[in-house]
Amino acid sequence: MEQKELIKLLNSLSLDEKIGQLVQLNGNFFDSNEKVATGPIAKIGIDKEKIPLTGSILNTMGAKELKKLQDKYLEKNEKKIPMLFMADILNGFKTIFPIPLGLGCSFDPELVKKTAQIAAKEAAVSGIHVTFSPMVDMARDARWGRVMETYSEDNLLNCAYAKAMVEGYQGDHDPDSTISACVKHYAGYGAPIAGRDYNTVELSERTLREFYLPSYKAAVDAGCDLVMASFNTIDGIPVTANERLLKEILRDEWGFDGVVISDHSAVKELVPHGFAKDEKEAAKLAIEAGLDIDMMTATYSNYLAKLVEEGKLDIKYIDEAVMRVLELKNKLGLFENPYRGGNEEAEKKYIMCDEFREFAREVVTKTCVLLKNDSILPLNKNNKIAIVGPYATSKDVCGMWSINVDSDSAVTLYDGLKKKFENLVASKGATVIDDSSLFESFNRYTPIDNVIDDNKEELLQKAIDTAKDAEIIIVAIGEHPQQSGEGGSRGDITIAPSQIKLLKEMRKLNKPIVTLVFSGRPLALNEVANNSDALLQCWFPGTEAGDGIADIICGDVNPSGRLSMTFPHSVGQCPIYYNEFSTGRPAKTSKHSRRFTSRYIDIPNEPTYCFGYGLTYSEFKYSEVELDKQVLTPDSKIKASVVVENTSERQGVETVQLYIRDLFGSVVRPVKELKGVQKIILQPHEAKKVEFEISEEMLKFIRKDMHFDSEAGDFEVFIGKDSNTENKANFELKK
Ligand code: BGC
Repeated sequence: MEQKELIKLLNSLSLDEKIGQLVQLNGNFFDSNEKVATGPIAKIGIDKEKIPLTGSILNTMGAKELKKLQDKYLEKNEKKIPMLFMADILNGFKTIFPIPLGLGCSFDPELVKKTAQIAAKEAAVSGIHVTFSPMVDMARDARWGRVMETYSEDNLLNCAYAKAMVEGYQGDHDPDSTISACVKHYAGYGAPIAGRDYNTVELSERTLREFYLPSYKAAVDAGCDLVMASFNTIDGIPVTANERLLKEILRDEWGFDGVVISDHSAVKELVPHGFAKDEKEAAKLAIEAGLDIDMMTATYSNYLAKLVEEGKLDIKYIDEAVMRVLELKNKLGLFENPYRGGNEEAEKKYIMCDEFREFAREVVTKTCVLLKNDSILPLNKNNKIAIVGPYATSKDVCGMWSINVDSDSAVTLYDGLKKKFENLVASKGATVIDDSSLFESFNRYTPIDNVIDDNKEELLQKAIDTAKDAEIIIVAIGEHPQQSGEGGSRGDITIAPSQIKLLKEMRKLNKPIVTLVFSGRPLALNEVANNSDALLQCWFPGTEAGDGIADIICGDVNPSGRLSMTFPHSVGQCPIYYNEFSTGRPAKTSKHSRRFTSRYIDIPNEPTYCFGYGLTYSEFKYSEVELDKQVLTPDSKIKASVVVENTSERQGVETVQLYIRDLFGSVVRPVKELKGVQKIILQPHEAKKVEFEISEEMLKFIRKDMHFDSEAGDFEVFIGKDSNTENKANFELKK
């Protein structure tokens, strides 16, 4: 449709029809033949007559189902404006990839982009138009359950992944293989106080702009079609009705002209926030702040018209929002083809096809992180192996947000390993958690398997009996998928006692122990590491879990994942992240007596595994850092290089990391900041020179005067295998 036709369409709509475009409900509202308003209708209190005007639906899938819905809707819709179908598709639609935090550990945006392309293809043929992804909230606190949905604690990585995901989903907007992306949760949702979901966020303007906003902006710059406003407050104002964030920064500064949608129920939640006195005021505050679509409340539907009629709301706010929704529908081609890519034949052909699954398997091998290996891995295929633990035969390995997954489709560890190791026995040994009341009110999930078992002792004894004749024991433990994700904050980030007991019982059998950890967050793993000879962080690996992990265990693939988030020593360190400030009393170098330095008296300052850390089956040696000059100017570049040598007998991938430290500034600077990554393949005993270019642009930050710029002075440049590296050289920036 031409723009002028869209304007004509907008002008032809009644006020109620306009408001309908700004309301999003889920599919339950349309299935129901409710004569009286019960169930979902009563729950959100929407006027039944208004439901047929709803502009978009969330989380209903399937080409056949959505075609039926669209047809029924258009039949009644006088202006023939098709509905938009949106869904939560985070790490795959049906072919499930590792959770985003796992994907982050690939340090490989191209790989991650391909996961988005595959998810988009599967979703597009299933009739979906928009995904609520990528989620690029910068997160530094492992207590927060939603760290599983994001990619990293680091901005360089988060920005690269944000761009990759948007490009992967949206591509050239081809209707048959792409969907629109909705970046979320703008802004700062990843910094809730105390790691408790939905909690208040307190960020200074500088921290917000320097650390928290860039990843959303990267998505917007990549052309992301939608933005989701976050639940939290920023500086005391809920983002849902935050004009400064939704208008001044997002639209005026960044030039975003797409649709802004609320998070689930958030417009109405302005009342309990204590920001709006009632729902009517909530509707006014949100629409005036630039919030276009109200997801899953009746607030816009019930009050916007009244506000206009009473002269309390200028209709221009509604018109502008509706226009953006119509423009999105037009961009997606819905006026020409309301089903878009939805196609039952294509669903059969593409969903979970061999090509997609093979790729998912490759991704698993690139996202698991080898944390410890005392010369145990890889295992010999002739070894007699026992696999014990709740994840030995579990298919629940796709993570909390894989809401479209066919529960039976994942490959279990046992099934994957069995293809490599003939001599394999399995036993569960323990359940994932000991207390099912943790799941009390989680209605989407039926926590039957892997949660509670009356016969704990019997379960454990069976595992001991199973493992006692093995040469090597693999222990597959972790947290439950529902212990992370939305509403999954934890005050204790260790593995449940019954699983630790299982691990220790296995240890008593005096065999080499290989432990595999499944989790949606960095866990405190000291006890686990101390009782294991090898330790592999598997995240929730998705559909190809068993096959991908088996590839690593038997050595067919050399692992290459690196931690994109710090693994704390214990929960008391949270939030913990590598790019912290030094403080005036740094524990290691301060001249003060130990007591009066910045440290804990009962736990170390250092995390158990630092950002960027990860082992491979190869060994790499780094030369000292060489710089081609010691002085940088705005119109020149410094070449910083190292020679990396594979000193082992195995070909492997090394993830070479460049960090910079600005030694002093008008505001203090982090002790290290990741500024470059190169993944290189080295043959046995091969050495390669790895070179990075350092430019003045890379040294910019938000200065004391709030300008984004560099400052002349001294810098350190580090090149090494992780954020702990001390392999460094110095240079000066002259301006
Ligand atoms: C979550 C969002 C999600 C939305 C729709 C909310 O509760 O915070 O991330 O996209 O629900 O399912």
